[in-house]
Amino acid sequence: THTQRVFSGVQPTGGLTLGNYLGAVKRFVELQERDWETIYCVVDLHAVTVTWPGREKMAAATRELAAAFIACGLDPKRSILFNQSQVPAHTQLAWVFNCVARLGWANRMTQFKDKAGKNAEKASIGLYTYPALMAADILAYQATHVPVGEDQKQHLEFARDIAAKFNLDFDALDFFPLPEPLIEGAATRVMSLRDGTKKMSKSDPSDMSRINLTDDADTIARKIRKAKTDPEPLPETLEGLEERPEARNLVNIYAALAEVTPGAVMAEHGGQPFSAFKPALADLAVEKLSHIGTKMSELMADPAEIDRILGDGADRAAAIAEPVLDKTYELLGF
Ligand code: ADP
Ligand code: NA
Repeated sequence: THTQRVFSGVQPTGGLTLGNYLGAVKRFVELQERDWETIYCVVDLHAVTVTWPGREKMAAATRELAAAFIACGLDPKRSILFNQSQVPAHTQLAWVFNCVARLGWANRMTQFKDKAGKNAEKASIGLYTYPALMAADILAYQATHVPVGEDQKQHLEFARDIAAKFNLDFDALDFFPLPEPLIEGAATRVMSLRDGTKKMSKSDPSDMSRINLTDDADTIARKIRKAKTDPEPLPETLEGLEERPEARNLVNIYAALAEVTPGAVMAEHGGQPFSAFKPALADLAVEKLSHIGTKMSELMADPAEIDRILGDGADRAAAIAEPVLDKTYELLGF
């Protein structure tokens, strides 16, 4: 029996999208309001698995992501907010997990295939073992719940497999909980505004495909007005959206931002042409998002304060993770 503890991380790879916000950060803030311990991490070690952006950009991206978390409502007093590289227990535990996880498990990871591309021989070994480090991120805190988007479901299963195998192999009973994914709400997979079959991502070359949390009100509204859709008006009910991924995506975004169900959005807007629905969505998005960018700029003006917050978070995180690592080593006979 473990206390209910939430852990999640986001990579500081420059800029957060509406997908990261609705699929992850907005949920982080909601969980903070409940009576659970919440730990949120800027996973900077993960961010160098594909490319290293250079020292200055790396540091700036970490601070920018911390600022984004706070601007979205994360309270560093009520949650622990820190960056991964400051707590060595993550990588120490990851080594143990690299020795628990099997090659066959890693070979099944679809994100590695996506990110490595055609020439997997050229991918870093870090990208390949990324899921073991992610398991360590979560299990170093014996976290029981992990809010993520759909795309992380497979990695969470990997972490559960590691926890179960570790507990069995090292006679550890239920030392590591099997972390539960929290994949809920209307926007667990926000799609590109240019292509309803691709997920919205900060790595998409087209800036029109995504809304960035740093976009100003005019940019947010323009991107929604220009979002790709089919020529038909919205159907009367949800069922009519099944074969219409772009329309479905805009309805889901509306629902998540308004904190209502997609059914409720259809009850209000069903039958409308996009010339009416898009402006309604643009107004809602501007209302809910544009203050985040403003708040981020304010926070970014004081980098020393962000570093102080992250340093304090790292101390509190280490106070939980180090005893877990000690016990892990003890179980292995180290
Ligand atoms: P990215 O996928 O943009 O590179 P990360 O891998 O750091 O970013 O993901 C951070 C969090 O945001 C994860 O919980 C992930 O599931 C979520 N997320 C990313 N993109 C989307 C999306 N398009 N829709 C919903 N959630 C998403
Ligand atoms: Na991630």
